[in-house]
Amino acid sequence: MEISVKTINLETIKSPCLVVGVTDKRKLTPSAQQLDLLSNGFISKVLRRGDISGEMGDALMLHDVPGLKSERVLLVGCGKIAELTHQRFTTIVSNISSTLSKANIKNAVVSIADLASKTLSSTLQIRLATEALLQENYRFSELKKDTHPSLTKVSFHLDDKRAMKKARLAVEIGKAIGLGRNTARDLGNLPGNICTPTYLAKQANIYDKSYSKLKTTVLNQKDMEKLGMGSLLSVSKGSRTPPKFIVMQYNGGKKADKPYVLVGKGVTFDSGGISIKPGAAMDEMKYDMCGAASVMGTMVSINELKLPINVIVIVPSVENMPDGAASKPGDVVTSMSGQTIEVLNTDAEGRLILCDALTYSEKFKPKAVIDVATLTGACVIALGAHPAGLLSNQQKLADQILTAGTECGDRAWQMPLWEDYQDQLKSNFADMANIGGREAGTITAACFLSRFTKKLNWAHLDIAGVAWLGGAKKGATGRPVPLLTQYLMERCGKQYSL
Ligand code: BES
Ligand code: MN
Ligand code: ZN
Repeated sequence: MEISVKTINLETIKSPCLVVGVTDKRKLTPSAQQLDLLSNGFISKVLRRGDISGEMGDALMLHDVPGLKSERVLLVGCGKIAELTHQRFTTIVSNISSTLSKANIKNAVVSIADLASKTLSSTLQIRLATEALLQENYRFSELKKDTHPSLTKVSFHLDDKRAMKKARLAVEIGKAIGLGRNTARDLGNLPGNICTPTYLAKQANIYDKSYSKLKTTVLNQKDMEKLGMGSLLSVSKGSRTPPKFIVMQYNGGKKADKPYVLVGKGVTFDSGGISIKPGAAMDEMKYDMCGAASVMGTMVSINELKLPINVIVIVPSVENMPDGAASKPGDVVTSMSGQTIEVLNTDAEGRLILCDALTYSEKFKPKAVIDVATLTGACVIALGAHPAGLLSNQQKLADQILTAGTECGDRAWQMPLWEDYQDQLKSNFADMANIGGREAGTITAACFLSRFTKKLNWAHLDIAGVAWLGGAKKGATGRPVPLLTQYLMERCGKQYSL
């Protein structure tokens, strides 16, 4: 899909469709006012007749509007400007996109980033619109022909020539995030029989070839044995597909700059192992590598943007299966850190692979480490599908992540990582158990990880609720690629703020 920003003359442009906003109650946005003037009051006449009120979700297609060279004008409801949020703006753009697609319109001029909002600058609106268009026009076409029509070309209309430079940057950022996010969605949506640890490693090597500042290394089972990753390897023991440990190093900064490290849970299928899961919706456990997908997608975004920092992505990847060689409840394993773990439930496998990856990350002397994982069903119960759960051993880092989330609309919500919860992990036979009982499951999972991050400036994102949608719209969301990219852009100073 081609997306650009231009100072287009709305009077002379010959587009299949011009898109402008109408706000609640029947007020014209600046560009709608322009069209109204050019058409001698045609638009306001339509509004007076009451065909569209301007509420969110409204859309009205007009044909052959007098005074214009374009074939159609799409009026789209934007609701109350004072109530505009990232989520609402994204919904407006999705509405535009689906209305155009349904009418089989491939090419449009969109003049919608002129909402006089206090929360969203007009350049941020352009960025969010770019992201939303790429999000909406994503089709999973690898294994199924998708015949739903999609948009191919959108130009955003900009009035103020002086704002052009920032608006172009906004489109660049939107495209980079959109591409990274759709990369993550593709990886997430692929089934477990195709997207194995080996497949993820191959994909990482493909990105390595496309981007000059990226270097990828893949460790095999033997390498992991040598490093003493007994906890990680205990998870993959019950599977016939070999584990992989993927390390992607992006050098955009100075050589001596300490890197930011992103760790993504890469369980390509989570059957639960011997503590096997119930059958209902078990297919959705192909999404248990969405943490990995999101950090790899973020790697794509930051390579597109050529951010001037160093970033390392680490993906421990395994399949969690129950066969004769699988770990059993009660088994005790030794992690790379030397700490021993009693595996009371083989379905709490995410933390078992992450702990060794977190220990491994120490060798890079990172500025900060963020791990991203579909770690607990409890997080879905606590927060639902809207924010990711955030836990951290450094409040400053937590605040930076929360801020980045608010800035880009891909939000996180902090939970307490208090010492009080650590007792739930006590074991009589090892340094800790891998589960902490029914209460506060998301927090005790993070408590487990915190025992491996004492030397790190560390945060954990539990994305179990946000990584994919169920129901009719079933599919990976690509979250939190926007949040992670935003967090990293904000580490580069002001140059990416819109
Ligand atoms: N991948 C799951 C978590 C999950 C479950 C994410 C459902 C999204 C939807 C994880 O490996 C898991 O099974 N966690 C267990 C932990 C429990 C055994 C302590 C869970 O949440 O039930
Ligand atoms: Mn599990
Ligand atoms: Zn899992």
